Amino acid sequence: MELKAAIEARTSVRVFSDEQVSLDDVKEMVRLAGLAPSVNNFQPWRYIAILNKDLLNRMAEVVTDKIENLPSSKSIAASNVKKQVTWFSTFFKDAPVVLVLITKPYETVLESAVELTHDQINLLRNHPDIQSAGASIQNILLAAVDMGYGACWLSGAMFAREEIEEMLKIKAPEKVLAFVVIGKPRSEHKPKIKPNLAESMEIIA
Ligand SMILES: Cc1cc2nc3c(=O)[nH]c(=O)nc-3n(C[C@H](O)[C@H](O)[C@H](O)COP(=O)(O)O)c2cc1C
Repeated sequence: MELKAAIEARTSVRVFSDEQVSLDDVKEMVRLAGLAPSVNNFQPWRYIAILNKDLLNRMAEVVTDKIENLPSSKSIAASNVKKQVTWFSTFFKDAPVVLVLITKPYETVLESAVELTHDQINLLRNHPDIQSAGASIQNILLAAVDMGYGACWLSGAMFAREEIEEMLKIKAPEKVLAFVVIGKPRSEHKPKIKPNLAESMEIIA
């Protein structure tokens, strides 16, 4: 598939068939994720592929608890919103494969030259660690389309980031940043219609 066609065909897929995802295909997607640009070429990432249903269910349970316990009014409207957010944050439990993206602090020469901490520099540079990680995820989403899969970027599970890190034995300074959920789509998905961004682009000549 041509790159432009993959970009145009990509859409978030959240409901999957029972068809297995080949581990070789997942490895290929993650290999491509590793070719993304990153701050100082530090590649501040690694991935864990979770196929274990019991673990996914336990992770979804802690996410559900976290969302349920977020401070809110007792209204039916608030409860409905929470239910909706819970679904969009836990549908990963029914997916054949969940990739967990783990980031680590990158090294910057500036740290040795100025009196700022790594976190202060990272904030001033607008979180290039997170920007880098996003580029790697996009590679996975496009590779998934190219290889006949559907996928969805998922940050909602991060409501229970600390609990998930504990389950996966992730220790600081590493952090879980996001999930990418992968499988064969259960039904046909049409990409959403989006405005042509070029039309609203400001051009400063
Ligand atoms: C940073 C990021 C976080 C996202 N988190 C979630 C999520 O937690 N749950 C979910 O269902 N979709 C999530 N999405 C998918 C978006 O909802 C989706 O990309 C958006 O609605 C546009 O639809 P499309 O991907 O089909 O073009 C996330 C996307 C991004 C880029």
